[in-house]
Amino acid sequence: MIVRSEQDLTDAVLSELAGASDSRFREIMTAAVRHLHAFVREANLTEAEFQQACAAIVALGKATTESHNEVVLAAGSLGISSLVCLLNNGEGGRRATTANLLGPFWRMGSPRTESGGSIVRSPTPGAPIFVTARVTDPQGAPVAGAEVDVWHASPEGLYENQDLRQAQMNLRGKFITDDDGAIRFCSVKPAGYPIPIDGPVGALLRAQGRHNMRPAHLHFLIFKPGYRTQYSQVYSSDDPHLDTDVQFGVTEALVARYVEHRDEPVPWGETAPVWHSLDCTFVVEPGVANLPRPPITAKAR
Ligand SMILES: [Fe+2]
Repeated sequence: MIVRSEQDLTDAVLSELAGASDSRFREIMTAAVRHLHAFVREANLTEAEFQQACAAIVALGKATTESHNEVVLAAGSLGISSLVCLLNNGEGGRRATTANLLGPFWRMGSPRTESGGSIVRSPTPGAPIFVTARVTDPQGAPVAGAEVDVWHASPEGLYENQDLRQAQMNLRGKFITDDDGAIRFCSVKPAGYPIPIDGPVGALLRAQGRHNMRPAHLHFLIFKPGYRTQYSQVYSSDDPHLDTDVQFGVTEALVARYVEHRDEPVPWGETAPVWHSLDCTFVVEPGVANLPRPPITAKAR
């Protein structure tokens, strides 16, 4: 089509898309083109601003490596990741869900760890914690035999993939739920952490005067054939950034309280004058189990 005016353009692109053989591709791209064209019109985007937007997308790709995913960080900082999560879980957003963001740091191949075992794999000073996580179906029945990946940041707020001092797979482990649908593990209490701001996401946050902190949390990924794979995060109720999470991830269903224990027997057999326990429950929905594409594949060099 030879374009006569800007008004022709959207129809021209959409009519070409109409020929795509994959119906879902056609549906997604048609919506994307309609909204992108509407966005350009609504924002009165100048040529300089368009070039700036293209440069920002290029910068997201260039800042992404095998141990860092700037694109996922950007999606979280704009609330896109949470929107996708909430629309795809809890019956299309109609009821509360324990599903949450996958985040940029899940790694495939976490070490299989026995129930009650520790995921501290190299010296990591911090407050000892003992976590019990339960998996149920929507009726509350335990889901046994589910694989549960666990990962979290250190008490300094760094994941092992970001920190050369931590061993490979430190603070990561894979557990299998028992007949009660439970896994148990010990670790050290994670801290909240700043997301990196040396790339385009940093510029995005500075332009809004936003801080770059995530509240302290534990990550979980629950996989069992017959159930939709669930990613989740459990947030510490005592964190000062619960209300202003830079990734918009905190939901009411996922704020949990660490209970302090003093001079009480330690569940994992060592001694500790003070330790904290945390209990949480995840509700998985029947469906197709699919592991996500790992956002990163290696530890930083
Ligand atoms: Fe995280």
